[in-house]
This record gives sequence, structure tokens and C-alpha cells, in this order.
Amino acid sequence: MKKILSLLIALGSIIHLFAQQVQWTETYPGIWKGVIGKPENYNLLNASGAVANASALGKLGSAVFPLSKKDIDIQIVDGKTYLRFPLQKEEQLYGFGLNFKSVQQRGRIMELHVDHYGGEDNGRTHAPTPFYVSSNGYGVFINSARYIKVWAGTGVRKDSPEFPEPRDRNTDKQWSASPYSDAVEILVPAAGVEVYVFAGPQPIDVVKRYNLLNGGGCLPPRWGLGFVQRVKTLFTAQDVQEEARLFEEKGYPLDIIGLEPGWQSKSYPGTFSWDKTRFQQPSNFVQDMLKKGVRLNLWINPYVSPYAPFYDAIKPYTSSHTVWLGQIPDFNVPKARSLFFDQLKKDQVDLGVSGYKIDEVDGFDNWLWPDVAKFPSGVSGEQMRQTYGVLAMRYSMDMFRKSNSRTFGLVRASNGGAASMPYVIYNDYYEHRDFITALANSGFAGVLWTPEVRSSDSAEEWLRRFQSNVFSPMAMINAWTDGTKPWSFPEVEKDIKAFALLRMQMMPYWYTEFAKYHYEGIPPFRAMYLEDGFIQSAGLLSEVKNVKGRFKPSNIKDQYMAGEYILVAPMFKGETSRKVILPKGKWYDFYSGEFAGDGETINVTPGLSKIPVYVKDGGIIPMMKPMLHSPKPDQKTDLEIRYYGSKASSYMLYDDDGVSFDYEKGNYSWRKINVSKNADGTFSSSIEEPVQGKPSTYGEIRFNYMTKK
Ligand code: GAL
Repeated sequence: MKKILSLLIALGSIIHLFAQQVQWTETYPGIWKGVIGKPENYNLLNASGAVANASALGKLGSAVFPLSKKDIDIQIVDGKTYLRFPLQKEEQLYGFGLNFKSVQQRGRIMELHVDHYGGEDNGRTHAPTPFYVSSNGYGVFINSARYIKVWAGTGVRKDSPEFPEPRDRNTDKQWSASPYSDAVEILVPAAGVEVYVFAGPQPIDVVKRYNLLNGGGCLPPRWGLGFVQRVKTLFTAQDVQEEARLFEEKGYPLDIIGLEPGWQSKSYPGTFSWDKTRFQQPSNFVQDMLKKGVRLNLWINPYVSPYAPFYDAIKPYTSSHTVWLGQIPDFNVPKARSLFFDQLKKDQVDLGVSGYKIDEVDGFDNWLWPDVAKFPSGVSGEQMRQTYGVLAMRYSMDMFRKSNSRTFGLVRASNGGAASMPYVIYNDYYEHRDFITALANSGFAGVLWTPEVRSSDSAEEWLRRFQSNVFSPMAMINAWTDGTKPWSFPEVEKDIKAFALLRMQMMPYWYTEFAKYHYEGIPPFRAMYLEDGFIQSAGLLSEVKNVKGRFKPSNIKDQYMAGEYILVAPMFKGETSRKVILPKGKWYDFYSGEFAGDGETINVTPGLSKIPVYVKDGGIIPMMKPMLHSPKPDQKTDLEIRYYGSKASSYMLYDDDGVSFDYEKGNYSWRKINVSKNADGTFSSSIEEPVQGKPSTYGEIRFNYMTKK
């Protein structure tokens, strides 16, 4: 018995030794891949089909491996992979997916698991991306489609080189219930895994490298950045036409109308076919809407009803289990996806439908398939759970690619590897504050998130939610159950309209910022911690001093960055004033151009008709006139280029046709804008000519110097 035991122990240490000799191979400059044990064939990067943008990664340049290799401990025990990464005393951690309560993740224990967010940051969320970023300027990505457990700086090992001094709780006020932990520990339930380590030097560089490994962020069509109204679930074609007419008549912008489950002849499970009582002539209807400048987005969940025309054909390629009694297509099987997406294409996309809302691919557990479900491809129920949203996005995008039309839709589940998918996450949880935290966190998870507006108890709340929504990846009212309209609260109707139109005016800025997401990997919406000079700003450093002998990181989650230059600080119901932390450097009021502060915490009382928004010194914001629909590819739009502050600066303005995938063949351009302030107080500005032979959608250009003094 003793012999067997010592043999086992010896075997254990051999595996340990083997695992420790992980080769870190620099696959792209500043990105290292470690192959541990025998990784599973199915993982996040191959489920998403991500193809890294090697040339953009090359431009970021090489770097040294950002961690001490000997402090990375890896073991395979009992068919599971144990990973340990070092953690310094004053390090902060961000990421681990789309969290809603906190931007700082140090000290958290989670199981990264696709699910509808349930009110707690425990790892169960719509995009539990196994990627974290350290304030020390490096990142780690676990390329596994398993439920991954994370102890983000909680465990204290007895052989830790910096074992904390034990204290007497009876008498010592410095006693802590969570003493210093020197590691991030991760448990992957598989006998091997691929791990990626990303260099900085800054946290934003880590995020850029991660997104570029995903192929870069998505580039939505221009119309995707307009205004979206989702209508009541049983609306008919006539109701939808009337809705569009009202928007036009009242002068509210509208680019997309979203139809909810009632567009289908049956739903939950769905038939993926028009309901002919509500939509008698789908083709005429879709074309008529397009003529009005309004695109249609259709709600689906992928579970197939016995009344769907392809039900019998797809049945052999579906799961052992059902969701709401509908068949679950295995999108890893080519036949399943061709049957499914061919139906969508011929019945809707070929008529001119522009996108989908892919709902309920996340959970909850009580109605989704259980982990014991089997899928014909052999991919486990667990791995399908982690990647189902990603697969649905991937293959729907392929469908749109066939007709060379970009799409921009909604999805309720995503994961690592999917940054290039043109989909925005939303959910049924309706906490305005937490929606803003999610917006900040989305930039660490390679996903987009919309703090959608549905209904409100008061005009004040409606306006406050609406204001934040306008500064997000998708400006949307989801009125599927309440039928709320932008003008539903007459007391604030004027302000709502002004913000809806502001969304449109800012389209050239949003579009260029999304282009930077695509080509450079910079998330258009991101946490303050990714902003240079933020941690150094007033108040923050003093907040992170030792509390009870323990590092207590700051956790700023109610303000965020929107594009290169803009800082947004939403107001919440019942508030009349708030604190805004301005990073180091001068900042200016977005509306007036006046100086607001420099690396300090300001207290602002904006009034109901303003959401506090600030622009960095030298900020260049290209804007257009407040159109009701996004410009057509052949339509030239004049630009007003706003400039804030006095710092000499430049901006690269992106342009392409706004609708097709031709940009992937090089059909795009960047035009450099320069602005500087002269000694006599006047300004000099210039913009490069449009690039010959490339799409050019901008007309007359006018500069507007916002800061007068
Ligand atoms: C929910 C979804 C809502 C709405 C509804 C329709 O799952 O989150 O936004 O689409 O389904 O049944």
C-alpha cells in the first residue's frame, strides 16, 4: 500500500515537473501562448473562428514577457489543470467577463459560466470571458470553453514567500479576514489548456492585443449607430409602418425597428417564418420600410418549433434535449447551420431584413439544456453552453457576408474570441447603475453592451436612462412589452429629442471610434482605468493606501470613456449632483467648451437636461447635422469638426461605404485632421483631401473651436 502511495506521489510530481516546463511561444509580438498538457480540441478561439490581425499586432511592437516565468505554477492533477499566476501587493485586476457590480476584480471568487446575469458578480454572466488585465500592464487569457473557476487573489498558501504576519483578532485592529494573497489561481476542468499572456506596457495595450488576437473589434454599418426602437411583440406590419410614420412626423431619428417574437407564426419555440396574419406581404413591407430609411431587426431564439418548415430536416442535427420544447440546432454541424441559416436568408434576409436579436442563448439553468445534454458534434453540453451565442453570431454573420451586407444586432451570450462579432449584449436586468458598470467592464471582455431603455416610473428616470443610452454602442428603446416611445413622457420630450438627435450628430465620431476598435483593438466604450493618467488623478491614490494593512483598490464604476476623447458621467434617478474624477490633463465641458478641471475630482450640478460629458484637451470630435436616418452610401454629409481646449492635436477620420464588407478588401481611408492654437489666440486647422479611388462620404468641412478662452 505504502509503495503504491509513494509511486502515486512520484507520478504526481512527474506530471508536475512536466507541466512546469511550459514553453511560452511568442505567437505575435507581445503575445505568448503556452500549451499545457493536452488541450481539448474545442476551445473559445476555434469556436469563434477568430483570425488574428497579424499586421496590426505587428505594429504594436515586441515586448518582453511581462511576468516572472518561474512564478507561474502549472499542474495537472486528477484530469484538471491548475494554474497560478503571481500577484503583487499593489496590483489591481480587471476583466473576467461582463460584470455588473464592480470594475475591480481582485479578491473575487468566480466560476466563469455563461448565464443570464443574476444580480451577483459570481462569474455567471452573458460573457464570462476568461481574460483578465492587471494594472501592472499585462493580461492572461484562458482559451477554454469549460466552466473555469477563478480565485482572483484570495487563497493564501502556506509556502507563500510573502506569507502575511498572523495577527491576534482579540487585540489587533489590523487583523484582516482576507489576508494578502499573492496569486490568481485558476482551475480548468480539463487535462490541458492553451493559455495566452499579453504584454502592455499599459493596460490599454493589453486590451488592444487581446482584441486584435480576436481579429479586431467589430465594425458596424453606419446605420447600426443610429437610433433603435423595438416595438410591442404583437405589432402588425401596419402598426410598424405607423410607428415609423410617427417618428418621422415628430422629428425623432430612427434607423432600426426591432420586431419581437410576434413576427413569427409561432414562437417559443419559433418557426423562423413570418406570421401571415400580422405580416401579409413581408417582401413589400420590408422594402417599404427600407424606402423610409428604416431597417428591420428580427427577434429570434434558435430553438426550432415542430411548425418550422425545416423541423424534420434539422432534427437529426439537434441536441438530445430541447429548450421550451424546441429542437436545439448543433451549429458545429455544417448541415444544421445550413438548414437554419438558409431559412433565415431566403425568408427574411433576401427580402432586405438587416439583422437579428439572438435571444436566450445564455440561460437561466431551469430552461436551458442541462450539462448532461448531448450534441451530435460530440461537443459537450458544457462547452455548448459556453459558446452557443458565439456560434450563433459567427454563422449569422457568415450569412450576411454572402450578400456583402454588414449587420449589427443583439445577442444575450458571448465569450472569448468573439470581439469581431457585430452584436451588442443586453439583458432583462434593469439597474441603471449596474448597466453603467457593465459598459465600463465590456471593454475588458471584448464585447459591446447596451444599457437599453424600456420603461420608467418617472420622467426624470426616463431622461436619465435615455441620456446614458445615447452614449453607448447601441442607442435603443426596447418597448417589447410596454410600448414606450421616446416621447412617452411629455415633461422631458424636448430633452429626449435633443439627445436622440445628438446621437445622430455624433455618428462620424462613433463610426471612426468603432473603426479604431476594428483596426487597432481600442474598445470604443471602456473603463476609466484604461485611460492614461486616471490612477494618478486626485483622490484615487490616497484611496488605495493600505486599509487594515491590506491594499484596497479604488473602484470607479459610474463614469467611463466613450471614444478617444470623451468622458461620460451619467446621472441616476434622484440625483442632482455628482462627483466626477477627471484624469490628469485639462478637461472641457462637452456642451459649452469651458474648462472643467485637471486631474481633480469635481462636483457637478448639471440640471436635468444635461448628462455630464467632458472632452480631453485637444479633443477633436467630427459631427454631422442631426439627420433622422443615417446617411446612405452615396450621400455626402457635411461635417462640423469640434475642437476643445488648446493643445495641438490630430485625429484620423475614418471613411468607407458604411454598409458592405468591401473595407476588408482595402476600400477605406483615413484622413488626418490637425488643429492647433496660435500665439494670438486664433486657430489653425486642416484636413487631408479624400483619398483618390476610395469611398468618400464627407462633403463640406467646417471647424468649430469650442473653447473660447
Ligand atoms: C426576453 C428578452 C426581451 C424580449 C423578450 C421577448 O428574453 O430579453 O428583451 O425580447 O424576451 O419575449
